[in-house]
Amino acid sequence: MVIKNVNLETVCGITSTIPENDRFEVAFAGKSNVGKSSLINALMNRKALARTSAQPGKTQTINFYNINDAMYLVDLPGYGYANANIEIKAKWGKMIENYLHTSKKLNGVFLLIDIRHDPSENDQLMYEWMVSQGFAPIIIATKADKLKRSQLPAHLKAIEEVLNVEPGTIIIPFSAETKQGREEIWELIDSLVLV
Ligand code: GTP
Ligand code: MG
Repeated sequence: MVIKNVNLETVCGITSTIPENDRFEVAFAGKSNVGKSSLINALMNRKALARTSAQPGKTQTINFYNINDAMYLVDLPGYGYANANIEIKAKWGKMIENYLHTSKKLNGVFLLIDIRHDPSENDQLMYEWMVSQGFAPIIIATKADKLKRSQLPAHLKAIEEVLNVEPGTIIIPFSAETKQGREEIWELIDSLVLV
């Protein structure tokens, strides 16, 4: 995808209705601080259109980025943000679930996992839930710049094993710092939405 124009078109809070877009969407899920908003900025060639933070819990709404009036990249709040109170956590969880359930235009789901660590219990639950809902999540192993290249294969394998991924699941190492993986992710998005 050649980026011509991007625009944060819709912001959905806990009480908002999910928009019924007429163009395809792909969504990015993962625990707080894993790098969802940073990945979306990298995909859009923007430094800070999607707000990022070293503190987990930055994105608290579902944000729809219109790309070239052709499709949407959807930034989701992170799950597992320890400092949010239980009620808020439950509401975000419901909001994410509700979106993944009800969007009629969602053609692809990416699940982001920090390449340095084994997936958490929440990551495993999210992956299993997505599969049970009929999605074939593509895994993005984020922050690849934090490891030596020689360490990547073992970490990718660990993610694959802990999540117990479905056969044929794609796992892409990505870095928002070096942009490693950006082209591969766009190729996948193009194949998901330009049908
Ligand atoms: P929430 O909105 O809280 O759910 O977090 P998020 O998943 O959107 O994470 P965000 O993009 O805000 O990034 C969290 C922190 O990780 C920020 O300090 C980013 O700069 C950093 N970060 C994200 N991606 C990378 C990466 O590829 N490499 C490195 N070194 N840091 C990264
Ligand atoms: Mg975010």
